[in-house]
Amino acid sequence: MKILLLNGPNLGRLGQRQPEIYGRTTLAEVVALATDHAARRGATLAHLQSNHDGALIDRLEQLDYDGVVINPGALGHTSYALRDAIEGAGRPVIEVHISDVRAREAFRRVLVLEDVVVGQVIGRGVDGYLEAIDLLLDQLTSESC
Ligand code: DQA
Repeated sequence: MKILLLNGPNLGRLGQRQPEIYGRTTLAEVVALATDHAARRGATLAHLQSNHDGALIDRLEQLDYDGVVINPGALGHTSYALRDAIEGAGRPVIEVHISDVRAREAFRRVLVLEDVVVGQVIGRGVDGYLEAIDLLLDQLTSESC
């Protein structure tokens, strides 16, 4: 199975940006942990972080993956373009938010990808990425039965 891991705006600064909210693990460390976790389950992982929704959409359009784990950052609250790209790709997608977006500012409670993703992992810290990989692989395995 091929997993595409996407990280949206500002997540390139994970580890330095508001560590009291997002923790001290860097994005490179998250990607290494996620790659190892996927490999333990026999899957490969490709990663892209971008501050631009168009770059994330271009990557989704390549369709060279079986499923996606995405932390869309703030685009998850605003981007109908990203929502449409996920719907159009027709592959299972799990949405991750490191922080508990439902317990923060009101604008973060709006999750515009909600109806096009097959699952969400919210407020579980960076371990949420690994939980999302497990959910995605469980979904892909059950689909192929
Ligand atoms: C985030 C939550 C978003 O509201 C925020 O804009 C982010 C990170 C998270 O992982 O908790 O950039 O997606």
